[in-house]
Amino acid sequence: MSYIEVSHEFKRYQGGVSPVVANNDVSFSVEKGELVTILGASGAGKSTLLNILGGMDTASEGSVVIDGQDIATYSSHQLTNYRRTDVGFVFQFYNLVPNLTARENVELASQIVADAADPAETLASVGLAERLDNFPAQLSGGEQQRVAIARAVAKNPKILLCDEPTGALDYQTGKQVLGILEERCRERGATVLIVTHNAAIAPIADRVVRMHDARVQSVEVNASPTSISDIEW
Ligand SMILES: Nc1ncnc2c1ncn2[C@@H]1O[C@H](COP(=O)(O)OP(=O)(O)OP(=O)(O)O)[C@@H](O)[C@H]1O
Ligand SMILES: [Mg+2]
Repeated sequence: MSYIEVSHEFKRYQGGVSPVVANNDVSFSVEKGELVTILGASGAGKSTLLNILGGMDTASEGSVVIDGQDIATYSSHQLTNYRRTDVGFVFQFYNLVPNLTARENVELASQIVADAADPAETLASVGLAERLDNFPAQLSGGEQQRVAIARAVAKNPKILLCDEPTGALDYQTGKQVLGILEERCRERGATVLIVTHNAAIAPIADRVVRMHDARVQSVEVNASPTSISDIEW
């Protein structure tokens, strides 16, 4: 069995007159330590899928197995523990706590798990050794996103889920942030899933999941991924 196995997963939202089917019979798998991109147009169901993988939302039907455990069967208490200890999440708009420093933002996450990485070391690993005591408003967008990545990885999560992590960043800064995510995967063995609109970055991935109209349209396995530093778009 693969590290992540999503089988016949459906998500239906009860909205308005008829329910919205945001994920329609979604199936795919991911191996441990892979870098995965999830591509698709706006509304294709990418964030819905990521939120379900991260235990922030629950599937209406189907199974979502992470490291041998079907989280689709979890109680809300089990899901809370799963979110806390097993998942690192990186969002488009960073979601840092504004009145805490970079170090304190990372501590917030590292304090809730037993075998967390050191916050200062983790911030240094994303190039922010000199900015530990800065507040988010004193940092650029790219730096704030690096704090968010440090916060997500300091817990040593099983999976790192990133929803449009470069959506608010310019080209160069976005590339740097992708480089950090790539490094977490290639050098440190993290399993990383990145949702993006940008098909140009697909070659960096071991696996490319394309979504269309709530369904998985294709899954492509790439035996020799390209480093982000070698891609221009
Ligand atoms: N909480 C909700 N209630 C009702 N409908 C929802 C909810 N969340 C998402 N949807 C609907 O599900 C569909 C998929 O949304 P989702 O956010 O997963 O798309 P996406 O691929 O992430 O799009 P984008 O690229 O714009 O972020 C959309 O039609 C959306 O309106
Ligand atoms: Mg989305």
